[in-house]
Amino acid sequence: MTTTTTTSLLETSLLRCYSSSSFKFKWKFDSLAKTRLFSPANSNNYDVRSLRAWRIRCVSDDPGSRLVFVSSRRKMVVLLSTAQLLSHLLPSNGKAADIYPLMQNEIRKVVTKGKAAGVLRLVFHDAGTFELDDNSGGINGSIAYELERPENTGLKKSLKVLGKAKINVDAIQPVSWADMISVAGSEAVSICGGPTIPVVLGRLDSMQPDPEGKMPPETLNASGLKECFKRKGFSIQELVALSGAHTLGSKGFGDPTAFDNAYYKILLTKPWKSTSKMTSMVGLPSDHALVEDDECLRWVKRYAEDQDKFFKDFTNAYIKLVNSGAKWKML
Ligand code: HEM
Repeated sequence: MTTTTTTSLLETSLLRCYSSSSFKFKWKFDSLAKTRLFSPANSNNYDVRSLRAWRIRCVSDDPGSRLVFVSSRRKMVVLLSTAQLLSHLLPSNGKAADIYPLMQNEIRKVVTKGKAAGVLRLVFHDAGTFELDDNSGGINGSIAYELERPENTGLKKSLKVLGKAKINVDAIQPVSWADMISVAGSEAVSICGGPTIPVVLGRLDSMQPDPEGKMPPETLNASGLKECFKRKGFSIQELVALSGAHTLGSKGFGDPTAFDNAYYKILLTKPWKSTSKMTSMVGLPSDHALVEDDECLRWVKRYAEDQDKFFKDFTNAYIKLVNSGAKWKML
């Protein structure tokens, strides 16, 4: 095989194209070979000429593979660029279109209504470490290395639940923890009667924990919460919409397994001010803070009146949350 620097570069390019290719076929670089090319000598006859040409074997899943001859480096580069562009546009390994329903299916086998709250909380605790200024943290599966942190108490169980689903998905096509957690949170919302939130796939996992001390403590007042969420790229409206996740779980916002706008309706009645021991336990200080601040209160009232608006804004904020600081697979 004739090898030149250009050959090696093109070979590398081909290999990269191959390794992340979305095509149902694979490119196999053969050689810069002396190849017999057929070219029309006149209207009826063909000349057989010996030329140096790039020869690529196109290995298909379909029976019979074809040889493609490219007679110049320029054509070779055009061919490769087109192949790479197409591989960006098509789903990874031609299977992404199938992998999403598979993930949903496996997640729904393990995430019951009762486990949905923990799974949704897991999303916030993986993604919520994101900081805009230095682009650190974010959704990257690093929660697996952070389970001993006090703010993550109880999340080990939820991660373990998802682990069962992940094993079955990985057996067909490996997916990242970051993708798994993002899709699981969306499914958790949907299982409990909330909106259907589409999640794009392709996040990469981190192999180390994110910096500590980035999650908002429950004792924050409204200005602390607004400041904290702003550092993560979220507006006041998004802070209020995302906090609506607390409609799930046992903090007293109606049915613990129903994703609805009861959180906002109940916040407006300020039950924690009551002398009754039961109702005084409703919500966290960070929930109470939202109705003590005019900018937040405006959105609390809006979502209490209009569940559809809450669902729409929660959907958008959730999509932003699961893209926070994400690193994506690239060619
Ligand atoms: C605004 C700042 C937030 C703070 C300070 C906060 C803090 C907390 C705390 C301390 C708990 C445990 C409550 C308990 O059981 O005693 C909790 C539960 C929960 N959090 Fe948050 N959270 C915040 C925002 C979010 C966001 C943005 C999400 C998701 C989008 C979320 C999802 C949940 C869920 C679903 C639960 C219930 C978990 C369960 O019952 O198993 N939280 N949160």
